[in-house]
Amino acid sequence: MLRCLTSGRRVCPALVPPFTLSPSWILKNITEDRHRRLTEQRWRCSVRCMSSVAKRRRSLPSAFPVLELPLHPIQRHVYEANLRNSNACHKKFIELREQVMKAGGENAIARHTKRNKKLLVRDRLRLLLDDEDFLELSPFAGLGLPYGDIPSAGCLTGIGRICGLWCVFIANDATVKGGTAYPITVKKQLRAQEVAMQNRLPCVYLVDSGGAFLPLQSEIFPDKNQGGRVFYNEAIMSAMKIPQVSVVCGSCTAGGAYIPTMAEEAVMVHRIGTIFLGGPPLVKAATGEEVTPEDLGGAKLHAEVSGCVDHFAWDEKEAYDYTRSIVSTLNFQLPEEEEEDEEKMKKRKAEEDPLYSSEDLLGLAPLSYNHSLDVKMVISRLTDGSRFHEFKARFGTTLITGFAKIHGNLVGIVANNGELSYQAALKGSHFVQLCDQRDVPLLFLQNTAPTAALTLSTTQAEMNSNRLKAQGSMLSAVACSSVPKITVVIGGCHGADSYAMCGRAFDPNFLFLWPNARVSMAAPGHSGSLLPEDSEQRKKQEDDLNRRLEEESSAFFSSGRLWDDGVILPQDTRKVLRDCLDIIRQQQYQLSTEKVQQPLLRM
Ligand code: COA
Repeated sequence: MLRCLTSGRRVCPALVPPFTLSPSWILKNITEDRHRRLTEQRWRCSVRCMSSVAKRRRSLPSAFPVLELPLHPIQRHVYEANLRNSNACHKKFIELREQVMKAGGENAIARHTKRNKKLLVRDRLRLLLDDEDFLELSPFAGLGLPYGDIPSAGCLTGIGRICGLWCVFIANDATVKGGTAYPITVKKQLRAQEVAMQNRLPCVYLVDSGGAFLPLQSEIFPDKNQGGRVFYNEAIMSAMKIPQVSVVCGSCTAGGAYIPTMAEEAVMVHRIGTIFLGGPPLVKAATGEEVTPEDLGGAKLHAEVSGCVDHFAWDEKEAYDYTRSIVSTLNFQLPEEEEEDEEKMKKRKAEEDPLYSSEDLLGLAPLSYNHSLDVKMVISRLTDGSRFHEFKARFGTTLITGFAKIHGNLVGIVANNGELSYQAALKGSHFVQLCDQRDVPLLFLQNTAPTAALTLSTTQAEMNSNRLKAQGSMLSAVACSSVPKITVVIGGCHGADSYAMCGRAFDPNFLFLWPNARVSMAAPGHSGSLLPEDSEQRKKQEDDLNRRLEEESSAFFSSGRLWDDGVILPQDTRKVLRDCLDIIRQQQYQLSTEKVQQPLLRM
């Protein structure tokens, strides 16, 4: 158990206000001395934040050199092949987006809006958020699962602004099987809560759910990372001083009833919201008594008698107004926006925009590992003014490392430019530690090799062992770095190299895929090395395996299963990164994060 050496009190590591709250952070800071220094430093920081009353800070002007990397004619045929593939992937992306927008289908939408008189989930978000410009997380989750297509996994999650403050939202879509929770729904909710915890974001739940999807109850109810974890997280988040607000805008049956009850503040909508452990049919079956949902667990009952909710709203619009009002009571102090005249804005924009069009990224997104162009071309289309301060440019050149700004936010970039060799991995470890030392967030641009290195000679064996050691060091450096990390898979995500490039298991704050990305142990066409040499049916096995790899390694297959935070279009990457960096930074503006707290308990 950690002990705060200033006060002597026992401190749960998860409650210390760090940049991120990953287990790696906790492990890294497990020694008391380091813990004390960091705690003091962070606390000083938050006190400074409080006392300076949002003084506008200015980052250092960037003197980074410009990457001048136009497309050369010799690269054009690779670029064209990539572009054709990107266009095909884009078509699939649009198809899936349309499928998701249809939600539970026409009949369910009519039942939801006309009979049940409720707003559709995206209309609810329109009323709740400042604008429609929110970062939706994993919109394709739930598509193509063994138990069918579950649009949006039955629940929209994302990060949007309320009164200028970035908040996570978790909103059931009741047009999808009454908003019931499938296993993928639970996974999506847990991931959204993890995002809220890791980035210390307030969280708003819009609850409209029939509870567990009963035919799959065994995959939802009992295990650690299943249904109960949502409530566990609610308590932990409250203890971490992560504010949570719940709006009951539909059914909250059985387990769902705990979400508003455990939230710090809850709003409930008259005639639409209900909270009960067992609904009227259950009461009738048990006691023979007929009772209306409103009398059993309506908004009046819970606002006036039980106290399960704190605010009564006559309609949905009023409920979202209340929620916005609640969010504005949170003790955050955001930096003041600097007034800019048109000329100043134009000048700043011209300085910030990369020299090259973001549309170029479609031709730089590799069709396969063999179609990868110099990754610095990708970097030059993402960073402010295409500027990049490269670190160790002449060493381990299959990994590119260096500093850049994205919409004014300083980041350390780690990008694959070939295999993660011995030298490249050493350089990667060094650079990751450097960023950790300087508290600079890391951006990984991942495109890892399709196969593991073969060992055909003693020399190769020695090289591979050295590489293994260096990669092991890089894995450790990435796992234990305490700075925020964002990973974008721009090509391949294969084998253990992908872990060193901050794959999902290494806890990046956000992980996105480009539509062309491939996610599998080995890439399709490279599976031979995975099969036994003398297998009689080797050819057939290889064909079968390649077919499966082709199907199962697509970005959409991955995103359907929530192995990432969503598929993003290459040309939108800069904007998504800007939002993520802005979101990550917001925790600096929360006042009084320093107290170790108990969760708020509803009276
Ligand atoms: N498990 C599986 N399917 C469920 C379900 C559940 N818990 N709750 C609802 N559904 C299904 C319905 O069978 C229906 O399926 P269909 O479209 O294929 O016909 C669909 O979800 C919509 O339900 P319906 O009752 O027609 O819609 P509604 O808007 O009138 O009511 C609920 C929605 C959620 C309020 C209502 O269905 C309900 O009370 N369900 C039971 C909730 C419950 O007791 N849950 C306990 C789980 S622990």
